[in-house]
Amino acid sequence: MKNFRLILVLATIVMTAVSCGPKKTQKIKEKIPYKMLVVYYSQTSNTKAVATEIATRLNADLEEIVPLEPYENDFQATVERGKKELEEGVRPKIQPLKVNVADYDIIFVGYPIWFGTYAMPMWTFLDQVSLSGKKVVPFCTFGSGGLESSVRDLAKAQPEANILSGYGVRAARMDAMPQEIDQFLKAGGFIDGQYTQLGDFTEQQAVSEEETAIFEAAVGDYPMIHAKAETAGMRAIPGGKEYLFIASDLPREDRPDMPLGRMKVYVTVLNGKAPVFTRVVR
Ligand SMILES: Cc1cc2nc3c(=O)[nH]c(=O)nc-3n(C[C@H](O)[C@H](O)[C@H](O)COP(=O)(O)O)c2cc1C
Repeated sequence: MKNFRLILVLATIVMTAVSCGPKKTQKIKEKIPYKMLVVYYSQTSNTKAVATEIATRLNADLEEIVPLEPYENDFQATVERGKKELEEGVRPKIQPLKVNVADYDIIFVGYPIWFGTYAMPMWTFLDQVSLSGKKVVPFCTFGSGGLESSVRDLAKAQPEANILSGYGVRAARMDAMPQEIDQFLKAGGFIDGQYTQLGDFTEQQAVSEEETAIFEAAVGDYPMIHAKAETAGMRAIPGGKEYLFIASDLPREDRPDMPLGRMKVYVTVLNGKAPVFTRVVR
């Protein structure tokens, strides 16, 4: 019995050592010479920056989706046009693609989040092509979040595609993007090298005063989040900590009709730096 316990303890130590900390990837490319394409739409260049970073790191082909009638260089005008198109199921016409997606094995598909899903020109692209049997890697940029909901729509639009884990970054955190893309591409096996495998969050517990202050510092001045943190879990990340808060919307005087719900808010606190939220999942 004593020996059995000892074996169990040793096995747990070994498994923990294997599941956390630095990992080395096996590069997909070396196994089979995959052909890779990065295709993206970007209105204000955030997604373009991510697309360019990925294509450069992978030496992949890069293709931009260009609407025939460009969106105005004005946020409110884009919101009005985009909302109307989304509600009416309009697909804005796009320029013919210079590449044939059928020629590629792995296709990185990038877009800004509009109204919780991919931007309208991406709807047109996804109507025009077949990603059936392709490995598809979604990536996006957003104000607060939307990778998960856009990937659900992507899976509906291309049910035969093999959609792999995606990457999303807040427009306000573009400076963190190159390093995150490095880790993302290594973790996915697209490039060689060491990456850090993060552990699990601790179990959700009622927030402490300190955690409430961290949550408020992270989301305080972001106009789209008006919420109260209820519970939190935490994990170590290189150079600091990451929190996963479960928060509830608070009623808003300026938007009395807005449905109230709950959300997950991811917050990073790097040593010596102010807390920042990295994404909201509704
Ligand atoms: C019409 C429109 C709708 C948007 N909707 C959302 C949204 O629902 N959620 C969000 O987090 N950000 C939203 N944003 C912010 C964009 O996703 C963000 O600014 C993105 O980085 C823009 O990417 P781009 O520079 O590649 O165009 C919206 C922006 C626009 C113009």
